Parts: sequence; structure tokens; C-alpha cells
Amino acid sequence: MVFEKNNYKVESVEIDGNKFFYRAYRDIIFADKPVKDFHRMNIYIPAVYYDGQSINGYTLNTAPIFMPNAVGGYCPAKQEEPSENNTIRHALLHGYVVASPAIRGRTLKDEDGKNYGKAPACIVDYKAAVRYLHRFANEIPGDDKKIITNGTSAGGALSCLAGVTANHPDYEECLDEIGVPQGDDSVFAASCYCPIINLDHADMAYEWQFDGIYDYHRSEMHMSEGGRPSFTPVDGVMNDAQIKISREESALFPVYLNSLNLKSENGDSLTLDKKGNGSFKEYIKSIILSSAQTAFDRGDDLSGKKWLVIKNGRTVDMDFSGYARDITRMKTAPSFDDVTMKSVENHLFGDEVNDFAHFTEYSAAHSMANGFMAREKTIKMLNPMYYIDDNKAETAKYFRVRHGECDRDTSIAISAILCLKLREIGCEVDYASPWNLPHAGDYDLDELFAWIDDIVVSCLHG
Ligand code: DHB
Repeated sequence: MVFEKNNYKVESVEIDGNKFFYRAYRDIIFADKPVKDFHRMNIYIPAVYYDGQSINGYTLNTAPIFMPNAVGGYCPAKQEEPSENNTIRHALLHGYVVASPAIRGRTLKDEDGKNYGKAPACIVDYKAAVRYLHRFANEIPGDDKKIITNGTSAGGALSCLAGVTANHPDYEECLDEIGVPQGDDSVFAASCYCPIINLDHADMAYEWQFDGIYDYHRSEMHMSEGGRPSFTPVDGVMNDAQIKISREESALFPVYLNSLNLKSENGDSLTLDKKGNGSFKEYIKSIILSSAQTAFDRGDDLSGKKWLVIKNGRTVDMDFSGYARDITRMKTAPSFDDVTMKSVENHLFGDEVNDFAHFTEYSAAHSMANGFMAREKTIKMLNPMYYIDDNKAETAKYFRVRHGECDRDTSIAISAILCLKLREIGCEVDYASPWNLPHAGDYDLDELFAWIDDIVVSCLHG
């Protein structure tokens, strides 16, 4: 592994009729035993830095390293290029150095039919790329103490994992397998849009949120290699077996939630009773109400939101199940660990020879596909929740988490729990549920970059 300083091209993107120049280092190999055409990364640097100029106060050596991943649906992703209007272009224009790694995913099969991108490959590859940035920090432009990961959905999960699990020994064996020497894989901050995380508790959280709502409205996902998903509409009503599962999963959620001993910022316990009501539910409502307040204050018409109570210009209360009915259920029970073992996540947890596996006790016990459980350690390595309290992990100090107000890909409880736990260990967490936004990411780059600039500055003074 080396960093070839002179192996770059100077290129440009056109912005308002002007050319913005950047240096592009492509296909940098970040593992000694790279698999196929993975374990490669592109690094882009604003060209003016080489003339000693600065952008937004950043220079060749001080610029934060923005590190987005292009993963969707836990599929493989290749390095991304700066283009017309994409995130990388905006980040370069803002003055960041951008590192874009390829990442293995669940659909990869070699010539012999062997899978080579199942969990935990995705997070192993992201970490390997971070290690490379630290290892060659003296040669690579940008400040390796200011690496900010970014991703959406499955990519948001990877960003979260990178932020939470840094330097944890659990991953060492897998890093060693691809020829990555021991080193630092810590990051400064993680930006996570609608992270699909906590997969082994996501089913129960989903049934808690969509309790009693049995009609579903979704799009069937088709993945193109390395691309984002495309969709066709599917509507229906859950059958009796699915409704039974929904009720059972929903009843499991309070038990899990209460086991976390969550506390609000005021130190009040956040709990749920057997029926799924209680202070935690009120806390979730407060997040939605605050989102609605922001929308109201900017003049959005909320008159159609019958579940929302607005008094004297304040969003004071809401009917939680009316809200869930309004955004509609997307997935049938169980939504992640499918008893017929056909979900994206079942496919993620397969191994070299098996395409699919279960990852919850409930669905393994109720399997209609004779499915076996994935390795316990693999399930753990994909779930940031197991590492938050583990002092062998060097958790990032800063997290920014967004879960759109009408996102139904996973329960809002999942990101809320993550953020509460991160705050409990002293992380600074910027968390919100932006009004009327679905499962999506990178929709507020100005705010994201302002957050990054803020934490970089506050770190200088702190
Ligand atoms: C993604 C969306 C899902 O609903 C899911 O279960 C897993 C991944 C995604 O868009 O990445």
C-alpha cells in the first residue's frame, strides 16, 4: 500500500459558467489483499489549495475530509465521481477534501457462485478506507483528524457504524483478511440520513409504531449493481399470520425499550408500559411535534393533518396512531427479519454459501424457510447499539442524524434510541425529523456543511 502523490489528474466541473478545478486521485488501493475491483478509493482536492489559496478558511492541510459512501440497500457501491449537482461537487466547492471509497455489498458472487460481499464486509471496507487516510495522513491533503462520514439508509447505517465502532477489536480479523494492518480507523463525526440500523430490534420497533395498521403501501425495490434502488408500487392488507406476528412483535418492543434505561435530556426515565404507551412515546411525539412546529412557522399548510393539534400557533399535541396511519405502513410484519427470509436484510446476513439468514430469535423460531441464524458476532458487528457503551470503541464526538417525518422504511424509534444513547455517553448529537421528508438523504447540504464547519471550529476552541 502506498499513496502515489504524482498519480493524479486535474479536472473541472462547470458551475454557473465557471470552471471549478480539482485534483482527482483515482483507484487508490487501500488494502494489501484487495478483492476483485473493490478496496479502492478516489480522493478529490480543490485545485486552488495547491496555489496556497483557501476556501471558507480551509487550506490544503486543514480542510476536513468529507467521506460519503454511496451504499443503498446494502448493495455494493463503487467510488463516486463529482458531477453536475451531486454531493461530492458541493463538498469540493465548499472546500472539503472528498474521499469516496468502493464498498462491497450483499449481491456480490464470484465465478464459483461464492458470495463475497455479505455482512460484515460493508463496514469492514469503510473502516479499511478510513485506516488508509490515517496511515498516509502526512501525504494525503486534508486533516485526518477531521474525517466526516456520510451516508443514506444502508449507507447511513455504515456512517453510523464508522462513527460508533472505531478501533474496536471485533473488526480486526476481517480487516486482516483483506490485508489491512492494525491502525486507526477513528472518525471525527458521522452524518447519518435515515440509518437502517439496530436490525435485530427493528421489527419490534416497526410494529410498535404501526400497531393496529394492517394495510401497507410500498414499492418493490429493484437494485442495479452499484446504483440506487428503483421501485414499483405494491398495496395490500396483511394476512392473519402477519397480523399475529405484528401483535407479538409489538408486545416485545416495550421489554426491549425498558431494558435500555433511556433518559431524556432532563434526566427523566423514558419507558413504555405493556401496551406501548408511556414517556418514551411522548418523547417520540415531541420530536414529530417539533418538526411540525418548524413547518408551521415557515408557513406550510398543515390543515390536512387531522392528527395534529395546533393551538395559538403552537403544535401542542398529536394522535400517534393517526400520524402512523397518515404516513402509512410500508412493510409487512416482520419487516426486516422476514419469516420467509426474503428481505434485503436476510440477504445481507447470508454467508459465503448461503444467500439468506435470520438474525432475530423471533423470526428464526417462526421461520417458514428453514432458515438458520447468522453468526452472533456478525449480527453484533452490524449493530452500532452494541458498541456505544463499549470503551474499547473510540466513538466519534459528533453525530448528525436525520429521519424524515414521513419515512416508513424503519421506525423513528430506532434513530431516537440511537441518539439518546449517544448523548448519554457524552456525544454531541444533532437530531431532527424534517417535516414531510421521506426516506432520503443529502437534501439539506447547506445545513450539513454548516454543522461540519461549526463542529470543526468548536473543536479548535474546545
Ligand atoms: C434501504 C432501505 C430499506 O427499506 C431497507 O430495509 C434497507 C436498505 C436503503 O435504501 O438503503
